[in-house]
Amino acid sequence: MGREVFVIDGFGGRRVIDGSIKVNGSKNDAVQAFAASLLFKSGYGVTDVPDIDDISKMGALLEKLGVGVLKNNKKWSFNTKNITSHVIDPEIACKIRASILLTGPLLARSVKVNFPHPGGCVIGERPIDLFLDGFKQMGAKVEENEVGYKITAPKGGLNGVTIFFRNQTVTGTETFMMAAVLARGTTVLKNCALEPEIENLGRYLVSQGARITGLGTPTITIKGRAGKPLEAKKPYKVLPDRIEAGSFLILGALAAKKLKVEGVRVQDLESLLAHFERIGVPFKLGQSSVTITAPTKPLQALEVKTHEYPGFPTDLQALMAVLLTQAEGESKVFEAIFEGRLVYLETLVRMGAKTQVMSQNRARITGPTPLTGASVESPDLRAGLAYILAAIVAKGQSEVHNIHYIDRGYECIDERLASLGVKIKRLT
Ligand code: EPZ
Repeated sequence: MGREVFVIDGFGGRRVIDGSIKVNGSKNDAVQAFAASLLFKSGYGVTDVPDIDDISKMGALLEKLGVGVLKNNKKWSFNTKNITSHVIDPEIACKIRASILLTGPLLARSVKVNFPHPGGCVIGERPIDLFLDGFKQMGAKVEENEVGYKITAPKGGLNGVTIFFRNQTVTGTETFMMAAVLARGTTVLKNCALEPEIENLGRYLVSQGARITGLGTPTITIKGRAGKPLEAKKPYKVLPDRIEAGSFLILGALAAKKLKVEGVRVQDLESLLAHFERIGVPFKLGQSSVTITAPTKPLQALEVKTHEYPGFPTDLQALMAVLLTQAEGESKVFEAIFEGRLVYLETLVRMGAKTQVMSQNRARITGPTPLTGASVESPDLRAGLAYILAAIVAKGQSEVHNIHYIDRGYECIDERLASLGVKIKRLT
């Protein structure tokens, strides 16, 4: 069992939450913004940064590369005048998948990069073949050793090329868009991921002098600067976290009389809201908020299939499954992105859910079933939050262990949920 534990007293299916909660900056936007600092001659600032472990780890990785790092609440500043190392610290990097975002900018800026196989959640094998193939296509030499990989750019820097991503990859698209900014010649990235964070980064880089077209489409074209770093004129503003927003909205659908989730970009939540409409979760849209109210009729079962953006986000799959345990009838979950992301279901069964896992990607959930409190271990960041939601719906007390996974992606989650009336305590 992990060190720290959340102890939660469930509401036993009653809808008692009545309040509002503000969403923080996006973890997955902030981590790429940190990596992008390496593209700038003397660095830059990043605002609206969430205060979570993955962010601190990315800051520590940059410091070990010789970057000056300053944190002032939600604003970070980076001084990249002297990059003194090309070794991405394996101790830290093997713990977070986002470390791989440093490879592209670092290779483009300082010609060499050593990095370990990146870490991350136990949601699947999480290969990095698309990265190694892409760097080779840009002319780099890729050597594998016992600790990881050593990549060396060709003399004169990376070459602009056309790369077709065999799989749509979020961090792959981000990494090669950044590497291409300093490469020689034009790079065309095809079958790109379409996440809003990618467009946010691309637009910012263009505003600071990069030449990128096709943002928001599957084909992004970047005219390289042949090694000449960018010079920042304004800081990078991190987007609101759409996965955190979705997590709170699903909490609202499960246990709220009324819950207003504020500081969101409604356009980033369309897939979740379309699913809410289908199963009967009433919500009201504001300019930058979504208010969930308790459904008067039982929720309808449905099929959820995860898909690259703008489809249903894989990061909300486990949380949606908890909601489906309370829906009337037989729901289906199809996890199409990661092969190991249904592991959490067996724990939900221990809490009273009725599920049938048909394969590593498909499961059935029959509801509604009352849940009862249990002692559970978070296997990863998003399943950890799903367990918290299940514990809130359950009757009786639960203990959620391995909460360091949850702290990786959600800032002060216990305090913020407690402010909504959730009976949650952090025991260290
Ligand atoms: C990003 O991971 C996110 N992480 C993940 O969020 C998110 O679940 C995922 O995108 C999908 O939306 C960050 O942005 C830091 P992928 P990423 O490359 O980029 C396969 C969270 O909880 N693939 O888009 O690593 C891969 O196995 C995390 O915040 C290859 O085959 O995901 C998967 O099946 C969890 N070869 C598919 O592509 C590669 O070289 C999509 O993965 C790379 C990926």
